[in-house]
Amino acid sequence: MAMKPPKSLEALIADGFIDEVIHPLKSGKEAAVYVVLSEGEIRCAKVYKAANKRGFHKQALYQEGRKVRNSRQARAMEKKSQFGRKQQEEVWQNAEVDALYRLAAAGVRVPKPHNFVEGVLLMELVTDEHGAAAPRLNDLVLNQEQALEYHGLLITEVVRMLCAGLVHGDLSEFNILIDEHGPVIIDLPQAVDAAANNNAAKMLERDVNNLAAYFGRFASELLNTQYAKEIWKIYQTGKLSPDTKLTGVFQASNKKANVKSIMREIDDARDEAIRRKYEQND
Ligand SMILES: Nc1ncnc2c1ncn2[C@@H]1O[C@H](COP(=O)(O)OP(=O)(O)OP(=O)(O)O)[C@@H](O)[C@H]1O
Ligand SMILES: [Mg+2]
Repeated sequence: MAMKPPKSLEALIADGFIDEVIHPLKSGKEAAVYVVLSEGEIRCAKVYKAANKRGFHKQALYQEGRKVRNSRQARAMEKKSQFGRKQQEEVWQNAEVDALYRLAAAGVRVPKPHNFVEGVLLMELVTDEHGAAAPRLNDLVLNQEQALEYHGLLITEVVRMLCAGLVHGDLSEFNILIDEHGPVIIDLPQAVDAAANNNAAKMLERDVNNLAAYFGRFASELLNTQYAKEIWKIYQTGKLSPDTKLTGVFQASNKKANVKSIMREIDDARDEAIRRKYEQND
């Protein structure tokens, strides 16, 4: 059953990008998300809110090193004229579309983007096993094994993103959906260019620490891990790949840590979790 479409989607309906607006999914500070029918498929439409309703000033941190199309655009953005704001708005929104394409190509699990028109992003709706919008990680209660498994998968996704040149910049239990195959990462307008942005290491650390803190509620052994520093260090040597074996231990000094035993403990728990899961499914 369709709803009366919101003003923000009227143009896309008129132009045939959307056939029907089915229901609103979520409306927050940054965006309003709708479930829509588009090209015969159930998809999701993300409508960005205006910059002035979104904490405009914080964007500077993220946008360092981001490419603008031409010098006129760059000058305008600096001046914060009305035109400048509009340009900056466009850069912000495009950053999410660019990131989605880039990450999908790198094998990161993100919603498949379909279209970006009139400030609206049309993308795949991530669903649960019934076809309804998938829950956010934050909506689930996990056991220790699931927590370790998802944490491991997400650390690998963070590495894959970094290998594709990006740091999410706002990764948390609110921006990860869980479908029947596991975690899917969403909400990327603030994604930062790892090589060009001086804040990238800090943002990676925050993202990775958010994961440890969240999953650490269910698996306390994760609370002392230091994947971010380890990942960044290997990234800087140019040798990081999604297959890099990580320990979660970082040695800033040359004090000896028992890396092997900590690594083994975490690996064992994860393997055990995966084994149990497959036993259950048999
Ligand atoms: N592709 C998708 N499939 C399913 N649900 C989605 C998808 N994209 C977004 N959502 C839902 O919409 C919510 C908001 O999307 P998103 O996180 O991208 O926007 P936001 O800018 O963080 O907005 P908010 O301020 O509301 O968090 C998500 O938490 C999620 O529940
Ligand atoms: Mg979000």
